Amino acid sequence: MRIDILTLFPGMFRGPFDESIIKRAVDAGLVSINLHNIRDWAEGKHQVADDYVYGGGPGMVMKPEPVFAAMEAVLEMAPERGPVVLMTPAGRKFGHGLTVELAAAERLIVLSGHYEGFDARVHEHLATHEVSIGDYVLSGGELPAMVLVDAVVRQIPGALGSPDSVEEESFSAGLLEAPHYTRPPEFRGWQVPDVLLSGHHAEVDKWRRRQNLLLTARRRPDLLEGLPLSNEEKEWLSEQMEQGF
Ligand SMILES: C[S@@+](CC[C@H](N)C(=O)[O-])C[C@H]1O[C@@H](n2cnc3c(N)ncnc32)[C@H](O)[C@@H]1O
Repeated sequence: MRIDILTLFPGMFRGPFDESIIKRAVDAGLVSINLHNIRDWAEGKHQVADDYVYGGGPGMVMKPEPVFAAMEAVLEMAPERGPVVLMTPAGRKFGHGLTVELAAAERLIVLSGHYEGFDARVHEHLATHEVSIGDYVLSGGELPAMVLVDAVVRQIPGALGSPDSVEEESFSAGLLEAPHYTRPPEFRGWQVPDVLLSGHHAEVDKWRRRQNLLLTARRRPDLLEGLPLSNEEKEWLSEQMEQGF
């Protein structure tokens, strides 16, 4: 997969992309991440990439010409085509479904805004998706782009050490993930549940599934709607709920 990120602040991506899972995925050739400074396509001695808001108002808007020029040049850099995601608080809320959809693409282009954001013509004529990472406003699209790229890269087959990891994570099966424990079996008097020490795989799987259900019912009951649960699971869950969890 090829990922291109268009931003005014490519330096902000150093660090998060140079460590851990993203770095390993890049080193393994599973993904290439290419950062492009939109200012490189801004004209004039000062390479100005922003301008005043038409109609008045505070802040500056990212001019369309350098963004369109950058996009056209970046598209020329490789033959693959794919979604063009523009990060904006006014976009569709980012979630697991979109990570899976985007990870299946051969190429992903991310537009990261700054100041008051992009001229509306960039939204209308360049973006295929407008995506928000949550109902709050950040100073720029760089952190949202990092969030999106990290979540997408995890979904690329081989990016995580074990293929099971991604399937067992929260949201993959529509549920939140069960709590984890590691050694020691007792810490400050708090015990690891016996079943996890039993070595009985079927019992461990059952416990985990029930914990997934319980956590989801407590914290995100909306996720349970429409999820195919067995009758036994439904009964067990309603018993737990009757007992106040
Ligand atoms: C200060 S924000 C602009 C906010 C815009 N004036 C508004 O009120 O919707 C600058 C840039 O940060 C990015 N951004 C800020 N918050 C975001 C969020 N929650 N999700 C995605 N991108 C965000 C966008 O790329 C946006 O163009």
